[in-house]
Amino acid sequence: MKLIQTFDYAELSQQAAEQIISRIKRKPSLNLGLATGSTPTGLYQELIKDHQQNKTSYKQINTFNLDEYIGIPKKDSHSYHYFMCEKLFKHIDIPLDQTHIPDGTARLLDEECTRYEQFIQEHGGIDLQILGIGQNGHIGFNEPGTSFDSRTHIIDLAESTRKANSRFFASVDDVPLQAITMGIASIMDSKEIFLLVSGHAKAEALARLINGDVSEDFPASVLKKHPNVSIFADKEATALL
Ligand code: GLP
Repeated sequence: MKLIQTFDYAELSQQAAEQIISRIKRKPSLNLGLATGSTPTGLYQELIKDHQQNKTSYKQINTFNLDEYIGIPKKDSHSYHYFMCEKLFKHIDIPLDQTHIPDGTARLLDEECTRYEQFIQEHGGIDLQILGIGQNGHIGFNEPGTSFDSRTHIIDLAESTRKANSRFFASVDDVPLQAITMGIASIMDSKEIFLLVSGHAKAEALARLINGDVSEDFPASVLKKHPNVSIFADKEATALL
């Protein structure tokens, strides 16, 4: 794992964006794995700015999101479909039918998991996956205890995750109990991974990732077994290293 330390969140977002843009220049039909949460929003703003100023094009890109809440309609402002449209897709030239997110409203959820997993593989797999990290070490929505062999699956959200994400909802009771997420093995299939870590609240998680053991109790630790991971972390996040 390569650690790229930045001064602050703005620099983290800029550096990650620069690297993504260079990958797109090298391969205009890049398969790009995307994440939600607060951490990548600065990166998405940088990609939008670059698209407007330098005309980097996403016309041949396919995107694959990590996860989606179960039971929230796509048009609902709490869905990750809505989040991605607002924060990125509607501001760049990507055709919407090339943006892929698991369907948390599918009638047959197990079939949706299998479909999404196969769909990524049929597209040739993910070239570059963007990840955030939960305070409990979750990646995507793979909570502690998830098997490293897992593929796209349904997960019961940890109470701590529901609390952390309640800031986006009226109350914690409104946060869905379950989500559909790419599995750990699905994420590990990506050719390259960028992990973004920002702020004091993530310092403990980053220290455990760097200094701790590889264990299913701390899902992000699996990244130590991947040959091509870059961690972009700001000063606050690296405070305990
Ligand atoms: C969410 C998402 C993850 C994200 C994480 C951290 O629950 N499913 O993909 O990385 O939590 O979010 P944030 O960046 O807001 O701290």
